[in-house]
Amino acid sequence: MNQDQKELIDEILQLKTERRAIILAHNYQRDEVQDIADFTGDSLELSRTAAGIDCAVIVFCGVHFMAESAAILSPDKTVLLPDMDAGCPMADMIEVSDERSVWRTFPGYDQQPVFAFPHDFTLRDIKAQYPGAPVVAYVNTTAAVKAESDICCTSANVVKVVESLPDERIICIPDRNLSAWAQKHTSKQIIAWDGFCHVHDRLTAKHVAEARAKHPNAVVMAHPECRLEVLEAADCVTSTSGMLRYARESGAKEFVVGTELGLMHRLRKENPDRIFHPLRSDMICPNMKKITLKSVLRVLKNMDNVITVPEDIRIRARQALDRMLAIPS
Ligand code: 13P
Ligand code: SF4
Repeated sequence: MNQDQKELIDEILQLKTERRAIILAHNYQRDEVQDIADFTGDSLELSRTAAGIDCAVIVFCGVHFMAESAAILSPDKTVLLPDMDAGCPMADMIEVSDERSVWRTFPGYDQQPVFAFPHDFTLRDIKAQYPGAPVVAYVNTTAAVKAESDICCTSANVVKVVESLPDERIICIPDRNLSAWAQKHTSKQIIAWDGFCHVHDRLTAKHVAEARAKHPNAVVMAHPECRLEVLEAADCVTSTSGMLRYARESGAKEFVVGTELGLMHRLRKENPDRIFHPLRSDMICPNMKKITLKSVLRVLKNMDNVITVPEDIRIRARQALDRMLAIPS
C-alpha cells in the first residue's frame, strides 16, 4: 500500500466512525475496496446484512440495484452509492411496461424451459399472457420491477425460491442462464426472460474444456449466470460466496474460477495454501470497478449520492425481498 492509499483509508475510517457508517462491499469490488469494508459478501448475504445492521449510514460498494435493495430494506438508514454510474446492464434489460424488451427461447439448449414470444414484450405483457403465474425476480432488477414481482431470488437460492412456490408455472426474470439452471433443477415450468450478464455469458463449454486441459487437477467452479453448457461442464455451480465456502470446505487444492475476477482476491486471501486460476482472464465487470477508495471517501464527506425509492414502490418491492429472506439459507 502506498502513502496516498494509506491517507485515504485513514480518512475513510475516521469519517465512518463520525457518521456511524458501515461499508458493505460485493465480492466483485476492487481489492482495496473489499479490504476497507465492514462486510464483504454475495448478493444474498449483503441483502441480509443491510436488513439487520445497526448504523445510521450504509455506504454500498456495489452496483445500483444492490444499493436500492439496501434502501428498500432499511428505510431508516441513509444509503450511499459511491458512484451513481455503477449500474448493472442485465438489470436494465427488463422494464415494467414502458420500454420494449427482447423475449425468446434458448436455442441450442437441450432442455427448453421457455415458450417463444414476440420480441417486444414487457413484464406486464408477459404477466397478462400468463395470468396467475408468479414472478420470481432475480435481485439484479430495479426496485420498480421488484415491486411488480411476487418474490425475489439470488444466484444462491433460485431453486429454493422456485420450489417454495405452490404454482406449477413460474415466470423468472431477467437472467436466461439462471432461469435455465432453475429449470434443470425443478419439474415446474419456467417461463424465462432473455436477459443475461455480459461478463458471465461470454464463457462457453470450450473455455471449460481448455481450462481442464491446462489444469487437469483443478476443480471447476461456475456462477449460475454462465450459460447452461458451462454449468453442465463445471464441477460446482454456486454464487460467489458459495464458491468461497466450497474452496474452504471441499478439500481440493486447485480451482478454476468461472466468475468475475474480483472474487479471486478473497479466494486467495482466505485460502493461501490453494491455487486459483480464472476461467477467462477478461471476466471484469466495469460497473463493479467504478467504486474506488476516492469515491467512497467523497460520499462519506459530502453525504451525497443518496439512494431513495418512492414509498409506494418500496413497500411492494420490500414484500418481494422479505418473502425471499424468509426462506432459510
Ligand atoms: P452473487 O453471487 O453475489 O449473487 O453475484 C451475482 C452478481 O453478478 C452480482 O452482480
Ligand atoms: Fe450485472 Fe454481471 Fe456486473 Fe453482476 S457482474 S453487476 S450481473 S453486469
